[in-house]
Amino acid sequence: MDLSRRVAEAADLVTVALDELLPRADGPESRLTEAMRYAVLGPGKRLRTFFALETGRMFDLDDRAVLRSACALECIHAYSLVHDDLPCMDDDDVRRGRPTVHRAYDEATAVLAGDALQTAAFEILAHPDTHSDGGVRSELIMRLALASGARGMAGGQMIDILGVRDDLGGVARMQRLKTGALIACAFELPLVLARAKEAERHALMAFAHDLGLAYQIVDDLLDAEGDEAAMGKAARKDAQKGKANFVTLLGVDAARERLGLLEKQTKSHLDPFGDRADFLRASVDFVLERRQ
Ligand code: IPE
Ligand code: IPE
Ligand code: MG
Ligand code: MG
Ligand code: MG
Repeated sequence: MDLSRRVAEAADLVTVALDELLPRADGPESRLTEAMRYAVLGPGKRLRTFFALETGRMFDLDDRAVLRSACALECIHAYSLVHDDLPCMDDDDVRRGRPTVHRAYDEATAVLAGDALQTAAFEILAHPDTHSDGGVRSELIMRLALASGARGMAGGQMIDILGVRDDLGGVARMQRLKTGALIACAFELPLVLARAKEAERHALMAFAHDLGLAYQIVDDLLDAEGDEAAMGKAARKDAQKGKANFVTLLGVDAARERLGLLEKQTKSHLDPFGDRADFLRASVDFVLERRQ
């Protein structure tokens, strides 16, 4: 099976599962549950889900055992995007090819939808259907909380808002928190479920680190020169807003060169897994070549 079909299948699986897991309501709070659904069920690439399912498969876990963790990751990711698009943050009108949540609804609803998506993620992980062992569930919750909070995504967003000045080390640290932590979590949660050995965990975390870095450099390149229609979101915003990122600091050519060097290094972390990691290896090219 080719990679893009495998990614599309992962996307279908998680979208169906999210549709079942997300709350519905009858009263006035149905506006909130509809906005949550609008944010999560929209056409995202679901790459974090793909990474989680492929990692699970490498350790012979059943997709069903990993899918609830993938749902939790997608809820946190969607919440981060809803808040990232708010006027007080990046002030964007289009996301995933559609009006952003605060445009389709209103700002207060978007804030609440983000909040409730965040708690939905932890509700999903805490449920016994996620794993029969409470110790494993608590470990999953801890990993996702660390990746999402002040020492992860939210911390990275704070650095982004405050701005990093002419300092590549600072940009790299911001990226690690803002994007890298949640991408790494897509590998960490199945590693917890598989009770993987320390050496395997170590190798996969090194892979996740470099992959997350490549992901953000591509995101920054797309902002500088991507096609808005393909991306489903506004471009040319980072330079216009004076944001320091890999491309505004290095320039397009040097950022591209850095990506080229990163490709080999990223894939090399998968050597210990042999051909069990073929789909993850191929996903590096997928990340590097993405246009959306
Ligand atoms: C966009 O994430 C924001 C970043 C972390 C760079 P994705 O590129 O994964 O967005 P979707 O989920 O496909 O919309
Ligand atoms: C946001 O990064 C990453 C998170 C939501 C944590 P960006 O602001 O660069 O993401 P896009 O470009 O709006 O998707
Ligand atoms: Mg942002
Ligand atoms: Mg943004
Ligand atoms: Mg961006």
